[in-house]
Amino acid sequence: MKRTPENCPQVLSALFDVTDGHTMSVAAEHGAYSRLETGAGARIFGRSQFEIIEDVFASGIRGRGGAGFPTGMKWRFVPRNGEKPVYLVINADEGEPGTFKDHFIMDRDPHSLIEGMIIAGYALGVRTAYIFVRGEMLPQIRRLNSALQEAYEAGFLGENIKGTGYNLDIYVHRGAGAYICGEETALINALEGCKGQPRLKPPFPAISGAFESPTVVNNVETIAALPWIFEHGPAAYKALGTSMSPGTKLFSISGDVAKPGVYEIPLGMPMKEFFDLAGGVVGDLAGCIPGGSSSPVLSSDECDDATMDYECMKELGTMLGSGAVMPFNTTRDPVLMLQTLTRFYSHESCGQCTPCREGTGYADRVVDAVVAGKGRMGDVEFIQDLADQFEWTTICPLATADAWAIGGFLKKFRSYFDAYLDKSDEKDAGRDVASLQPGGFW
Ligand SMILES: Cc1cc2nc3c(=O)[nH]c(=O)nc-3n(C[C@H](O)[C@H](O)[C@H](O)COP(=O)(O)O)c2cc1C
Ligand code: SF4
Repeated sequence: MKRTPENCPQVLSALFDVTDGHTMSVAAEHGAYSRLETGAGARIFGRSQFEIIEDVFASGIRGRGGAGFPTGMKWRFVPRNGEKPVYLVINADEGEPGTFKDHFIMDRDPHSLIEGMIIAGYALGVRTAYIFVRGEMLPQIRRLNSALQEAYEAGFLGENIKGTGYNLDIYVHRGAGAYICGEETALINALEGCKGQPRLKPPFPAISGAFESPTVVNNVETIAALPWIFEHGPAAYKALGTSMSPGTKLFSISGDVAKPGVYEIPLGMPMKEFFDLAGGVVGDLAGCIPGGSSSPVLSSDECDDATMDYECMKELGTMLGSGAVMPFNTTRDPVLMLQTLTRFYSHESCGQCTPCREGTGYADRVVDAVVAGKGRMGDVEFIQDLADQFEWTTICPLATADAWAIGGFLKKFRSYFDAYLDKSDEKDAGRDVASLQPGGFW
């Protein structure tokens, strides 16, 4: 079946094109908060926390923030009803280049996120929850705050929600706009008012996170899918997508397609079919970054047989990551693309780990030299060697993400780098380490 936006199941995007879908009155006409009804047939209140967590597990939903970890399993780890409070923190930092799906939810259907948070909060025994939003997203922050106010006024938040005895408060916390604050432990540090730098794991946040208490960090999209799951049942959700990648997913697609934007598709859709949905590739496809800047790039041949699910991407040595799909055509220069990425990662390094602080900057400076016509024979191997040294040797995966971006471009688009080196004034000189001393940011 050829899929179009019209016949894709709309788990998350049903209200995206509805006028005033962000308001409670319009959202309620489309079922918002109906899952919270009490009495006979209640889906949430009145059921045990255990049953709700097991339903989430049974749906098979996997976290949409990047790693694709099964949400129900994460929730199972949380020590509930202990002496310490349990916190729920929604990760709305969304800072990865090319990624702009979560802000659609906050903009166009904030009540699905709030309802999902009430479901998650009840299941996990949460009294206080936060939405950590990237600071620059002012329109989305305003939308969230007015939706929260409506939810309080309607009795869905605060004390004794709808007479159930359950209490929940939700606060919007503005981040200061650092990409690293999307990493969950850096986010928790920032939420606590500390420097936004990642923590060593373990302990994992589910055991000891915000304020040294059990904390569930989930992506906006993960939680916004819960109302649909509890409306239609976990089996209905699991029936969408593939057996290992159930459900639908939002993808932000940009780059060389005719209709860039945010699309909801069932996981498992062939990549080429997805490109068609987005108006088709403009020009001749050269490759595609399939899941945000951290996901290794695919060649056009690899795109031919790729499907949009976690397993296929893993087989291809890449990932769905943050859901940002960036196809590019043969007029683009992969060397300049890599230059943008290495600059991004070196700039966003929080500086805690030496391999990341020094290595990402070093790799960036060598790529800059190649672009500037100052590359030397052996630089491709040199950059790869640097990347190998900061892959998986650091506190958080930011350096590894840079290493993957580098590895992907060098391997799949090697000839473009060689062409720069062939034209270089300094190609026959050996790489002089001292010629690339740190400058700029560090
Ligand atoms: C450098 C870095 C940036 C990240 N940025 C985000 C982000 O903006 N949003 C997000 O949900 N997850 C982000 N993550 C993943 C989070 O650490 C975490 O895994 C996720 O929020 C968990 O939610 P989920 O289980 O619903 O996917 C980032 C991870 C890293 C290493
Ligand atoms: S890998 Fe980089 S961003 Fe992550 S903690 Fe270390 S220095 Fe900071």
